[in-house]
Amino acid sequence: MSESNHSRTALVTGGARGLGVEVCRQLAQAGMTVWLTARDEDRAAAVAAELADDGDVRAARLDINDPDDIAALAARTPCLDVLVNNAAIDYDTDQRALSADLERVRRDLDTNLFGAWRLAQAFTRHLRASQHGRLVNVSSGAGSITDMTSGSTPAYSTAKLALNGLTRMLAAELRDDGVLVNSVCPGWTATDMGGGGRPVAEGARSIVWACLLDDGGPTGGFFRDGREIAW
Ligand SMILES: NC(=O)c1ccc[n+]([C@@H]2O[C@H](COP(=O)([O-])OP(=O)(O)OC[C@H]3O[C@@H](n4cnc5c(N)ncnc54)[C@H](OP(=O)(O)O)[C@@H]3O)[C@@H](O)[C@H]2O)c1
Repeated sequence: MSESNHSRTALVTGGARGLGVEVCRQLAQAGMTVWLTARDEDRAAAVAAELADDGDVRAARLDINDPDDIAALAARTPCLDVLVNNAAIDYDTDQRALSADLERVRRDLDTNLFGAWRLAQAFTRHLRASQHGRLVNVSSGAGSITDMTSGSTPAYSTAKLALNGLTRMLAAELRDDGVLVNSVCPGWTATDMGGGGRPVAEGARSIVWACLLDDGGPTGGFFRDGREIAW
C-alpha cells in the first residue's frame, strides 16, 4: 500500500495509550492521515498534538461501547481506508474459567468483541468505498484455541477467540470488495496491559504490517510479526 499512503486515512481505537499511540505514530510516519480516537477527548487531542512531528494525526472522541458515539463519528468521517480495532480491557489473569465472574466476562465481551464488531459495522461503507480497505482486529495469542490448555484469563481469552471468529466472517463477507480483514497479535508488549514484554514500537509494527498490506494480500488470517499463527 506504499505508493499512495498519502491519500489514505486510518482510524485507531484506544489510540491515546499503549500500543494504540504507537500504531498511530507509525501509520502517520507511513504517510497516512490518522484519526487517533479515545474515550477522553482532551487526552486524544493532547496525544495527537505530541505526534504532530510524525505526520497528520487528528483527534476524536470515541467510546467503542457507545453506539451513538460510533454512529456520530462514522457520519462525520468522509472516508476511511484502514480501521484498527485496538481498544480492549481486562487481561483477567486473576480468574479461572470454572470460577469466573460471568458479569465480568460479559463486560469483557462487550468491549473486546462487541466494541470491534460495532466499529466494523459502522465503517463497512467507508472500507468498501476505499477499494483498498484494511480492517485489523488486534487480537492475542490468548485467544488461540490451540493454546487454550488451561482455564486462565477466561474473559479476555473468550473474547479474543470470538474476535478471531469475527475476523474470519468479516473477511469472507468483504473479500469481493477488496477489504482485507485480519487478526493480529502484537506479542507480549510492555504496556499497562502487558505489564512487561517487548518494546511498544515492536508490538505496534506487528499491527501496522496488516494495515499496510498490498492489494491481493492475505485476508481472514491470524498473524504475529507478519507470520501466520495458529487459531
Ligand atoms: N500488551 C500486550 O502484551 C498485548 C498482548 C496481546 C494483545 N494485546 C492487545 O493489544 C491491544 C492494545 O493493548 P495495550 O497493551 O495497548 O492495552 P492498554 O495499554 O491497556 O490500552 C488499552 C486501550 O484501550 C482503550 N479502551 C478500553 N476500553 C475502551 C472503550 N470502551 N472505548 C475506547 N477505548 C477503550 C484504553 O483507553 P483508556 O485510556 O480510555 O482506558 C486504552 O487506550 C488490545 O487489543 C490488547 O488486547 C496486547
